[in-house]
Amino acid sequence: MAAESCKDWVLTVTAQTPTNIAVIKYWGKRDEDLILPINDSISVTLDPHHLCTTTSVAVSPAFTHDRMWLNGKEVSLSGGRYQNCLRELRSRAGDVEGEEKGIKITKKDWEKLHFHIVSYNNFPTAAGLASSAAGLACLVFSLAKLMNVKDDHSRLSAIARQGSGSACRSLYGGFVKWIMGKEQNGSDSIAVQLADEKHWDDLVIIIAVVSSRQKETSSTSGMRETVETSMLIEHRAKEVVPKRIIQMEEAIKNRDFPAFARLTCADSNQFHAVCLDTLPPIFYMNDTSHRIISCVEKWNRFEGTPQVAYTFDAGPNAVLISHNRKAAALLLQRLLFHFPPNSDADLNSYVIGDKTILQDAG
Ligand code: ADP
Ligand code: DP6
Ligand code: CO
Repeated sequence: MAAESCKDWVLTVTAQTPTNIAVIKYWGKRDEDLILPINDSISVTLDPHHLCTTTSVAVSPAFTHDRMWLNGKEVSLSGGRYQNCLRELRSRAGDVEGEEKGIKITKKDWEKLHFHIVSYNNFPTAAGLASSAAGLACLVFSLAKLMNVKDDHSRLSAIARQGSGSACRSLYGGFVKWIMGKEQNGSDSIAVQLADEKHWDDLVIIIAVVSSRQKETSSTSGMRETVETSMLIEHRAKEVVPKRIIQMEEAIKNRDFPAFARLTCADSNQFHAVCLDTLPPIFYMNDTSHRIISCVEKWNRFEGTPQVAYTFDAGPNAVLISHNRKAAALLLQRLLFHFPPNSDADLNSYVIGDKTILQDAG
């Protein structure tokens, strides 16, 4: 490290990463440490300007240990997942030269240097909108930049996967598949892009934030309990998902909205059925979530062809994917009619660009 005696330098990198919402869900691990899933999954990455994480990482010889602040509060980095990501990145770090003061960090220096990490999610954390996906992808991406890690996105996805499974899919935009892989060491459990963000840009995603409260059962413990106790999960992972993955890839390739909507809704419903089949049962959706499903189902049936697909992650918040802008405008009207602001199940709304987010008041 050049300027060995001088400890007053800091190098920083800031990155922004969008969240992704699975349309064929990942739920269940075959290896808890490496985060290897029991089935493939497919997601759509949201527009980076809307639901995203912003993370700044800094390195300085003045830092005595690794520290992280999430949404303004210091959180512990001691968990195995953060440590696994940091270890993987340190082992791949390259030489870095700072622009000022002749700073030169060699590969070996990274073993001794520490980071300060500041991260902010512009959407509810741990509420079923995939904050762990955006958060861990952003952490790995920003540290990789800071440390001059030369690995491509697919290798980085395997590192992000070890922070949170769903994070591996946020390294790419558009439609992304997480291939479960076969290797015991997880080397082939990576994300690949199926289609980029321009491929199907008629789709409009509307997020109805039913509750921004932190969920009672984290995704990690929820899926562990499911794998331990559910009889349905094996059938889902082995029989149902492999077929759906093939059909979903086809639907995305052909921009076949009816097939896309049918598969997305069915997979969300089966994921929540599997949660209900867990002991003790896990209830991620609430009455408002169920009412949103009924509303969309009735409308789609009335129209004779799907206008909107719904999907719910591990939380009560609805992700609604409309066929086009016209369907999105009608959907918004319907939501505001059925869930008027200041009613029992109110969803106050605000609009950002061509994506719309309905957010709760509290
Ligand atoms: P979600 O449905 O929001 O993904 P999870 O239960 O999967 O909920 O994960 C939530 C956890 O992810 C948080 O408690 C925190 O540990 C981690 N996390 C969320 N956002 C970030 C972030 N920006 N940086 C680092 N870790 C994050
Ligand atoms: C319902 O990736 O949050 O959102 O790997 O334990 O961090 P860990 O879990 P996480 O699980 C996501 C589950 C899901 C479906 C999905 O994103 O595919
Ligand atoms: Co998560």
